[in-house]
Amino acid sequence: MAGNIATFRIPTQINYGAGSAETVGAEGRRLGGARAFVVSDPIVQKLGLTDQLLRHLSAQGIDSTVYTDVEAEPSIQSIAPCLAAARTAGCDLVVGLGGGSAMDTSKAVAMLLGNEGQAEDYLGVGLVKRRGVPSILMPTTAGTGAEITPNALFYVAAVKDKKAIVSPHIVPDVAIIDPLLTLSVPPAVTAATGMDTLSHAVEAYTSINASPMADLYALEAIRLVGTYLRTAVANGKDLEARDGMARASFYGGIAIANAGTNAVHALAYPLQGQHRITHGVANSLLLPYVMEFNALSNLTKFGRIAEALGEPISGLSARTAAARSAEACKLLSQDVGIPQKLGEVGIEEEHIDSLVEAAMLVTRLWANNPRQVSPREARGILLRAL
Ligand SMILES: [Fe+2]
Repeated sequence: MAGNIATFRIPTQINYGAGSAETVGAEGRRLGGARAFVVSDPIVQKLGLTDQLLRHLSAQGIDSTVYTDVEAEPSIQSIAPCLAAARTAGCDLVVGLGGGSAMDTSKAVAMLLGNEGQAEDYLGVGLVKRRGVPSILMPTTAGTGAEITPNALFYVAAVKDKKAIVSPHIVPDVAIIDPLLTLSVPPAVTAATGMDTLSHAVEAYTSINASPMADLYALEAIRLVGTYLRTAVANGKDLEARDGMARASFYGGIAIANAGTNAVHALAYPLQGQHRITHGVANSLLLPYVMEFNALSNLTKFGRIAEALGEPISGLSARTAAARSAEACKLLSQDVGIPQKLGEVGIEEEHIDSLVEAAMLVTRLWANNPRQVSPREARGILLRAL
């Protein structure tokens, strides 16, 4: 009997651990870089992390040009000036240091340095023909998992929506995951990015493309978020918690790189596009309501999610255990201070139709959802989250 055939990729070298940021110079040199284009943001630069990176590169004889005009939740138009700066500087290596915005910008620029045309031409799945110049990504939040995913997300003003460049050719050559880089992230950002990680892990674990290999990473990411997110928000200097969250983010990234996200990210895109709600908060607001809707698809897996988030499920029926997963998720987001309802971020019932209309267009993510969702059901999920 033929079963489901799963494809699983972790194509990138990963340097992981406290202090691993120091390896960037040696890696850059190994990749043949002589002139690095460092993509970062003003906050990361102000924290001194960019200067530290430049010292590591220069110690290995690599010159650098720094670009910090990265937009938060970057627009697709923001790539052209960044690319122009990289071309002017004659860079042969891209190093992205920052959160998802800096890393997604880096992915697009590294790709465009080796491909024709502009960023807009590559919005979609599988449109990138070849790898660009070598690239290294170093996350300073935990996180988007962008250091390992084949996706780069951009705001497209013309359609007021987020669109993605999706290609294995934009995965970096090396991901350097150093939890020390995340010690200064403020509590609100730690909370929002941590809930994004939880969304990745839950969506990948319950995706119809889930596989036993991706499940290992997804379930461990859920367990790590359940164990460490509260502490990382309460005390950002707690290295054990930051280390746990750095791993959670990375594992969540591996899980979605292989199994994909689904209804949460699909419904969250228009919240970001039409109302400019940040990625992590948008996902967090929707996650428990999507879990309640999707639980029916696999009670056992949703029960395991509840367990991984610390809920005792022994002796419970499969249905009750599954329901505990969404409850645990609400409790976590409440504890870390994230808005609980769409109404708290300015969404009203009159906005719902347009949100549903835009969300239903994200067909590549709906295809991964474990339960079929009609526009009416999508509307129902949003109304429950309101
Ligand atoms: Fe995400």
